[in-house]
Amino acid sequence: MAFVRFRVGFWAVCFILALSKIAAADNLSPELGVLLEEGLRSKGPVKVEQFLQLDPIQKFCSDSGVNIHSEEAGALMSEALEQIQYPDDDDYVGDWREGERIAQSGKGLRFNDSDDTINGGNCYACHQIRKEELAYGTLGPSLYQYGKLRGYSMQVLRYTWAKIFNPQAFLICSNMPRYGHKGILTMGQMRDIMGLLLDPKSPVNE
Ligand code: HEC
Repeated sequence: MAFVRFRVGFWAVCFILALSKIAAADNLSPELGVLLEEGLRSKGPVKVEQFLQLDPIQKFCSDSGVNIHSEEAGALMSEALEQIQYPDDDDYVGDWREGERIAQSGKGLRFNDSDDTINGGNCYACHQIRKEELAYGTLGPSLYQYGKLRGYSMQVLRYTWAKIFNPQAFLICSNMPRYGHKGILTMGQMRDIMGLLLDPKSPVNE
């Protein structure tokens, strides 16, 4: 199941990246623009506009000569960092069991989902997390023993929250989805994911 989900997720990511590259190319011919606008159609939560109207970071990262060490990259990352919203009362760590369900779920944001489908995080598509789950992608680093290796200090909690909220605030052209920034996960869902990674009692940290 998880493998199938990964494959579907992988091709969806490739398709979206390819489309955003086409749409952002400087030499986009007017004919191609019209073709894309007329050829694509919105279905469910997938909207044509998301492929044609790129935000500043998507535009920056779609340039084939992108320099991730440039001043422009630094400015875009600082702006993204300022926009991160942190939970009230420093309440970062939710229920790891619920976090595991969210990390496993690849639901949401697909053309066959309805607008009210509850999004999952699909974290296993790119990360190892629990040792018990054998099907995982390796695009991202392993998160097994995340808290045990890094500790549970406020700095680690704040960094991890911010990284999940907007990974591109730390690595401008990161391939990881911007879960908080794009409203993919709610603050409550993010707290539960934090529990999976950073509750000392979570099996991730055994
Ligand atoms: C499409 C692939 C992809 C998905 C899905 C994904 N990630 Fe990532 N993630 C990455 C990549 C690639 C990196 C390393 C590059 C970077 O830092 O952005 C990363 C880095 C991270 C880091 C930083 C690790 C460190 O040591 O600093 C954390 C934490 C993380 N991911 C958590 C998550 C969580 C939680 C989810 C699900 C809600 C998730 N990721 C989903 C690709 C992904």
